[in-house]
Amino acid sequence: MKNGKKRGSREIGLEIAVICGRYFLKLQHLHYGYWSDDLDVDIANLGIAQENYAQFLISHIPEGVARILDVGCGMGQVASELVRMGYGVDCVSPSSYLSRQARELLSKTSRVFECYYEALHTENRYDLILFAESFQYINPEKGIKKTLELLRPGGYMLICDVFRKDLPGQSPLSGGHPLTRLQRIVAESPLELVKDVDITAQTAPSIDIENEVLQEVVKPTVDLIRQLLESKYPIMSKSLRFLYGKKMDKMNEKYFSGLKTSENFKKWKTYRLLLYRRIDFAEPC
Ligand SMILES: C[S@@+](CC[C@H](N)C(=O)[O-])C[C@H]1O[C@@H](n2cnc3c(N)ncnc32)[C@H](O)[C@@H]1O
Repeated sequence: MKNGKKRGSREIGLEIAVICGRYFLKLQHLHYGYWSDDLDVDIANLGIAQENYAQFLISHIPEGVARILDVGCGMGQVASELVRMGYGVDCVSPSSYLSRQARELLSKTSRVFECYYEALHTENRYDLILFAESFQYINPEKGIKKTLELLRPGGYMLICDVFRKDLPGQSPLSGGHPLTRLQRIVAESPLELVKDVDITAQTAPSIDIENEVLQEVVKPTVDLIRQLLESKYPIMSKSLRFLYGKKMDKMNEKYFSGLKTSENFKKWKTYRLLLYRRIDFAEPC
């Protein structure tokens, strides 16, 4: 537990994905990636798609920005590119594993606050607060409140993340706050929308890759472990099934239903780059 918040299964799942992605594919980012039309949708190209995403993100940083807070910095790859470009960057990272990687990569000029964003306390103020696929993990009301506390007047909030569409029924894909929820909170705040770019089509191919890994690698591995437990420890297996059968069925349904597809992603989700500016300040005459 960190700052009174329990580590959830999504957080731990993310770290497992990082460990595998780093080891097997040499990935440095944790986001979906940006698949341009000329890039083949193949797991071998995931690193290129992720680099494209980072460049896409950076290209939307407005002129005049000097100090950036990278919220949920992952392994610090985007932050390190920003430092290389001359920005002053601090990071927030609740994961001790990821914070360690980020600190190794970043120079001593960058501070990595190891805490949840909602619990961050600092006197520092920033020109831009960046959420690169991290906004979905943060309570939106608390996140915007904290952002207004840390953003200097005239500063920017840049969110690039997946959101839920308001559709009836149950999406087979989890993750993302309803976009309308963010829009409602922002409407009552001194933040003004500057840019809204829909990149659902460019991010969706990563879902097919994730589905392929789940179906072709994770599911057969889990099945083999289950068979091994059943033959070696039949009583323990039966007890586990009796105690956690419903939970196991739910997990099977969630990860191995085969419904995690780019088509369903495009139907139920919308992936947006949203740039907001804080407007409760006096423009110089
Ligand atoms: C999908 S990863 C994105 C990482 C990185 N921004 C990137 O683009 O590669 C989500 C990140 O959000 C962080 N995170 C999760 N909950 C958070 C919270 N409440 N406050 C700050 N960061 C959080 C995770 O530790 C992780 O670094």
